[in-house]
Amino acid sequence: MSPSRICLLGATGTIGRATARALVRRGHDVVCFVRPGAAISDGATARVVNIADPDSVARDGFRGERFDAVVSCMASRTGAPKDAWAIDYQAHLNVLTAAKAAGVTRFVLLSAICVQKPLLAFQQAKLAFEAALMESGLIYAIVRPTAFFKSLSGQIERVRRGRPFLVFGDGTLTACKPISDDDLADYLADCLDNESRWNRILPIGGPGPAITPTDQGEALFALLGRPARFSHAPIALLDVIIGVLSALGRIAPPLAAKAELAKIGRYYGTESMLVLNPETGAYDADATPETGRETLFDYYRSVLAGDASAERGEHAVF
Ligand SMILES: NC(=O)c1ccc[n+]([C@@H]2O[C@H](COP(=O)([O-])OP(=O)(O)OC[C@H]3O[C@@H](n4cnc5c(N)ncnc54)[C@H](OP(=O)(O)O)[C@@H]3O)[C@@H](O)[C@H]2O)c1
Repeated sequence: MSPSRICLLGATGTIGRATARALVRRGHDVVCFVRPGAAISDGATARVVNIADPDSVARDGFRGERFDAVVSCMASRTGAPKDAWAIDYQAHLNVLTAAKAAGVTRFVLLSAICVQKPLLAFQQAKLAFEAALMESGLIYAIVRPTAFFKSLSGQIERVRRGRPFLVFGDGTLTACKPISDDDLADYLADCLDNESRWNRILPIGGPGPAITPTDQGEALFALLGRPARFSHAPIALLDVIIGVLSALGRIAPPLAAKAELAKIGRYYGTESMLVLNPETGAYDADATPETGRETLFDYYRSVLAGDASAERGEHAVF
């Protein structure tokens, strides 16, 4: 795509920051719709917008100007049902409506591979917007990545301090092909002009092979030069916690939100972040496309060497 005017949503998040850099590197004019006080990447422009208010999106965001494309890395910070429906669905719809009026023809959406098996409220909200985007008439690319490095890095510090690596069950219940922030950002930015990705749902992982939690723990201990040690947590424990919080949540709503967060933890403890074969119901590593060069274990190495800092994921289980 020749340098274009892009509206970027979620430019202050993990993938949004990397995507802002990738878009600026490609010479685009990147306008980020942000909350007050946001710091954004060099070379991009910030506009303070109340994304929940359609008038603010048009008035403070698009400002009656022409834009070529929207790239969205925006998502609810908590994944709690109310926030997910407000941001992952309704706020995106507000932008979609105003974007059409601004002349936008292309929309690249960062979604998540887990929506292929939607058991959680935030997944339903994402799916509802995916459907609205597909119906919109715009050229779309719906990118459904596997797990991010930050979501698989929550135990680096505890292992470094000499504690065992925690896994659910035997540590092989799930697998994923982790994708780095910059590799995913490049993939998103390239969706703007790679016609083979237009009007498609695009599951995407990083370089293979698929790895399990046990693989992650073993790699971490090997990098530290220590024998691997694991603690095993039964999934049934999470089921008890979810049951108790859900029951109490009927009388105390804040506990219902906590129950949803425990359900998110259980989901990631038991479901692989790989393409799901709808016929067999099994996750398929070979069917999960790969992109990029950076591996999770290279990232662990740079965190341990002090060259990178591990950001905790909002939905990190440990
Ligand atoms: N973690 C994983 O392993 C994983 C794997 C696959 C897919 N995903 C999906 O990838 C997406 C992005 O993840 P991420 O980790 O980059 O997200 P993140 O770091 O949590 O960033 C979320 C972005 O959305 C913005 N946002 C949230 N609520 C907002 C609001 N009310 N008004 C305006 N902006 C708002 C945030 O702005 P503020 O900075 O102002 O809060 C931030 O820029 C999510 O949809 C997630 O489900 C995640």
